[in-house]
Amino acid sequence: MMLSAILAGLSLTTTLAWAHTSSLLQRQSTGTISHSMNVTNCPGYTLGSLAENEYGLTAQLSLAGTPCNAFGTDIMDLTIEVTYQSQTTLHVKIYDTANQQFTIPELVIERPPTPTESFTGSSDLVFNYDPSPFAFWITRRSDPEAMPIFDTRITSLPSTPIPPFNTSDPRTAFDGFPLVFEDQYLQVASALPYGTNIYGLGEVIASSGFRRDIGTDGGVGTIQTLWARDVGDPIDQNMYGSHPIYLEHRFNETTNTSSSSGVLLLSSAGSDIVLQTPDNSKVSLIEYRMIGGILDFYFFSGPTDMEVIAQYGATIGYPMWQPAWGFGFHLCRWGYVNISEDIANVAAMRAANIPLEVQWNDIDLYHAFRGFTTDPVRFPGEELQQFIEQLTTNHQHYIPIVDAGIGATLNATDVYYPFSDGVTMDTFIKNPDGSLYLGQVWPGYSAFPDWFAENTQAWWTEALTNWTELGVNFSGIWLDMNEASSFCSYSCGTGANFSALKPFSVIGAVATGYPECYNETLWGPSGNMTINGTSTNSCPSETMETLKKRGIGAGGEPSVNLTSPPYAIHNGYGAVSTNTLATNATHYGGYVELDVHNMFGMMEEMTTHLALQTIFQGKRPFLISRSTFPSSGKWTGHWLGDNYSKWQYMYLSIQGVLQFQIYQIPMVGADTCGFNDNTDEELCNRWMQLAAFTPFYRNHNTYGALPQEPYRWDSVANASRIAIAARYSMLPYWYTLFANASTNGLPPVRALFYEFPIEPELFNVDRQWLIGSDILVTPVLTPGATTVDGIFPGRGTVVWRDWWTHAVVDANPDGNTTLSAPISHINVHIRDSSILLLHQEPAYTIYETREGPYSLLVSLNKAGTALGNAYVDDGESYPPGTNRILNFSASNGELDIESTGEYPIPQKVETVTILGVQQPTGVTLNGDTIEGWTYDGANEELIISNLSIELNAAESKLCWE
Ligand code: GLC
Repeated sequence: MMLSAILAGLSLTTTLAWAHTSSLLQRQSTGTISHSMNVTNCPGYTLGSLAENEYGLTAQLSLAGTPCNAFGTDIMDLTIEVTYQSQTTLHVKIYDTANQQFTIPELVIERPPTPTESFTGSSDLVFNYDPSPFAFWITRRSDPEAMPIFDTRITSLPSTPIPPFNTSDPRTAFDGFPLVFEDQYLQVASALPYGTNIYGLGEVIASSGFRRDIGTDGGVGTIQTLWARDVGDPIDQNMYGSHPIYLEHRFNETTNTSSSSGVLLLSSAGSDIVLQTPDNSKVSLIEYRMIGGILDFYFFSGPTDMEVIAQYGATIGYPMWQPAWGFGFHLCRWGYVNISEDIANVAAMRAANIPLEVQWNDIDLYHAFRGFTTDPVRFPGEELQQFIEQLTTNHQHYIPIVDAGIGATLNATDVYYPFSDGVTMDTFIKNPDGSLYLGQVWPGYSAFPDWFAENTQAWWTEALTNWTELGVNFSGIWLDMNEASSFCSYSCGTGANFSALKPFSVIGAVATGYPECYNETLWGPSGNMTINGTSTNSCPSETMETLKKRGIGAGGEPSVNLTSPPYAIHNGYGAVSTNTLATNATHYGGYVELDVHNMFGMMEEMTTHLALQTIFQGKRPFLISRSTFPSSGKWTGHWLGDNYSKWQYMYLSIQGVLQFQIYQIPMVGADTCGFNDNTDEELCNRWMQLAAFTPFYRNHNTYGALPQEPYRWDSVANASRIAIAARYSMLPYWYTLFANASTNGLPPVRALFYEFPIEPELFNVDRQWLIGSDILVTPVLTPGATTVDGIFPGRGTVVWRDWWTHAVVDANPDGNTTLSAPISHINVHIRDSSILLLHQEPAYTIYETREGPYSLLVSLNKAGTALGNAYVDDGESYPPGTNRILNFSASNGELDIESTGEYPIPQKVETVTILGVQQPTGVTLNGDTIEGWTYDGANEELIISNLSIELNAAESKLCWE
């Protein structure tokens, strides 16, 4: 098809007036927009020789005219390789034939192997191309006439000018979207259906919500910059991680159907990814602008959202297996300054009977802020060791922080092995002249591990092992500052006077901020305030709105150096070397930081994970890390970084959790109760409940802020006990969802529309979420509330039952339903047609909970049927040992349990609760009459207790009639 035909197909009009009115334009531009640069002059490419093979094709592309050298030098000869990777995944790789550009090494991210069978004639997706000017598009074999899922034939479409990176920088307004492939600038764009639904492309906290802003007519919706950056949770800016993957949920109103697809650009290059909808075009588009690398695309056919996410996982690697204890409640703060505080904290949690699974320590643990040390006065080795031993005896755990920067020794008498061994073993990043690169982090001038270097794995494993020998018998590791963060730009420590640098100090730091509408004068600054809940239900919504946009980043900083690299990505800090390693820092193998910057965190995660596998032979590591990249989920979980103790941030944490399910890093959660600023009782009450229904559950607080452990307020203690008990009883369900993630890439936490794909009212719901397919969470997100509005998917076809009371919800089929939500109560609902295996007696620790009996909760649909399954194993072995799969099905008054596998489950099912049944006259288990049952007509609830159902039996049958 020629360009004119496709343009007609996209209903483009010829009026091309460009309005500069989008909200994003307004918030990022700081002055007049210049238009001097115009990549329309870039000639594009012509396809030459093409060779088909069993798995796809290879062809040559050559520059079609005079080089435009827009932001670098045009590369004359390119190679395109198309591989039909599987039934669902198509790989399109365009690279410089001379192979000079950076490509992510296979050792860093393992790619799918060459297919063993040919999918060229059968795959869901089809690669199509025009030879001149070269363009390609991807269609569905089942529907070749539909708008392609990716389509680069839009080269002559004028674009909306992108706000400049800096007002003095003219290089931002482009006309058209030719394929540009230069050494320092790559550009490719694809048409998307007008206003379609795009998710992913983070890490970001998007003011648009979980669904990305694609712009309205004539507008740029999103400029997503990917450049790892240590910054406290900004809105609409680049931050810790880089994930060039998106999910498109395409809804067809006419046929009332949906189909989803996904696109990964597997590149670590600093980039801007732009979503926009040109004026009058009735087409939206996505444009990639990269400052290096190659174009390495993977297309996923879905067609469901869950399948897209799973196909992405199959490509970059499924998430690691989590140890069961990792699902427990974690408690942390910056400011547990000595071992006595740890001890007191653990005791206070126990006294308040709030389950504590893991006690964490921040950099307070360190001596002189140096990683892999302990302060001899504040955390003496023997006491620390005893403390951790006590935790272990009580089936609790300990996690310390590991910072990426390794403090440099001050002089010849200064002994610090992680640094001196690193120098000897040559494990650090270098300056271009080969000298040691020294930035500055907490300990002062610091070196940074070079994850590419040959000895780094051995050195890092040794540093972690030696730490355990100092008494730090950790169960898991917290990786921080790995963007990598540096407090100075460039190698500020090289040649510097070390004694002139004062050590970092937090002494005297006091947090003064509070949640929106918190009245410090009225309620005081103490940690012991009363709930302001119902008394302040006048927190004006504008108060929350003002938090949406914070800072304009580099656009407001005229002094930032924009000279290199030539195309200035919209990095929130301006120049790419700001607050991180300089882009000219060099790595083993000749790599430069510019190309590999975005992978620092992921490579540290891989190295640490492998080290922990050596240290804990046969056991699953547990890691939580800040900076992530595709495939990070193989090695680590993630927390959402330095948020604020604000209501707005509690809400924003939901989109973070949803995003990271797409990124295949499902073990994710936010700093519960908020990190920066002081929290208050009401926010902490709501947040402790909300976060109990997200995968990674940790309360963490900054230095100098009021204490926010859940025992600090009675109401928060109470709310936490309630929510943690529910969480621990659901553990078999969570665990099964995570087993499914690790074996099939399916996301444990789901946006509502994944399960209900043809209900457009759900496409931007990010105030609620589903755990698996069966549990719907509707938290309170505003102060002073006693009710909450939530949508119940299914438009009246699904029966939703209250988790706590089992009552059927009288849900509005056409919109929101208002639910009662007094303080300390979170709305959680069970979908019909589901059967959940639960722990009957949630206990103080995960170990004790798992030791106890099971129960089953059956939520029948209107037809009286339900299904469920569970994966059970020992919760800790790596590689996973034997397991048992339980399949549950209910219909016609009968519940069948089928059990397969080798893992012996000692615990029995003692209680079965069946919701949605009519009054029975009798109950039998495997043919034997059961006496111990009760029936509640109001809830149509049959509770059969005092059972002892053997889960190792191949089959069990429970009947009621
Ligand atoms: C960073 C981390 C934060 C930690 C602090 C001190 O800001 O994101 O979680 O508490 O450093 O280590």
